[in-house]
Amino acid sequence: MTLRLAHLSDIHFGGEHRSAVGAAAGWIAEHRPDLAIITGDVTREGSETEFIAARRWIRSLAVESLVVPGNHDTPYFSLMKRLFAPWKRYERHFGPVSPSLLRRPGLAVASINTARGVQLRTNWSKGAISTGQVSRAVRALAEAPPGALKVVACHHPLIEMIGGPMSGQVHGGHEAAVALADGGVDLVLTGHVHAPFALPYPGGDGHTWAVGASTLSVRERGSPIGFNCIEVDDDIVRISALAWSGSHFETWRTWSIDRRPKPA
Ligand SMILES: [Fe+2]
Ligand SMILES: [Fe+2]
Repeated sequence: MTLRLAHLSDIHFGGEHRSAVGAAAGWIAEHRPDLAIITGDVTREGSETEFIAARRWIRSLAVESLVVPGNHDTPYFSLMKRLFAPWKRYERHFGPVSPSLLRRPGLAVASINTARGVQLRTNWSKGAISTGQVSRAVRALAEAPPGALKVVACHHPLIEMIGGPMSGQVHGGHEAAVALADGGVDLVLTGHVHAPFALPYPGGDGHTWAVGASTLSVRERGSPIGFNCIEVDDDIVRISALAWSGSHFETWRTWSIDRRPKPA
């Protein structure tokens, strides 16, 4: 095994499951993944106290972390703040929401913000992604060395989880998924639906996979509270959805994915 990632999502501080959140930090300290990727909804309603709690916990983790925003990380109940300064609080605590690239040995992760403070539709909490966001991520990931795992981290699933408890309804999602597959991305890590899943993207060569994580909040939606452990070697990516048993995390489901063959 060359790489291990912890993929957590939807902790929703303010409504976090305290025991599970504490145990997740313990799991990370024990298993020492190379990176903890947190795919949004770190708070319940984007309040200052929730952001303070979220930042304190994330900074206390034993390993490096990467955070992207979710729809709950903008001031949820203030239309004016969502309209004029949707990411002010988030950025004060976690830095710019603009696209970024993190490169580590064997790994490149492009962050994309799919959440919006307002949209021209009633349900502003659903996702949106622009062609510019996608092309920037594809270009950045193309610079990764051969064999590196190319990951996109964003909050909303760009294609819908089959049989999921809710939808992402991402504007531009299908086009983005096709472009990321054509661009040779390996994994697109997301949250939002509070349920773990893994399924291949349309288009491309069949080696681009959508991976969703559950929640570490009390907002369960039919799947156990938990997070994903992603183990990567040269040939295979193994995704384990870990579930909170009430006293510890145990494997709930596992997906084994063949990695894209390296160019000869
Ligand atoms: Fe959520
Ligand atoms: Fe969400």
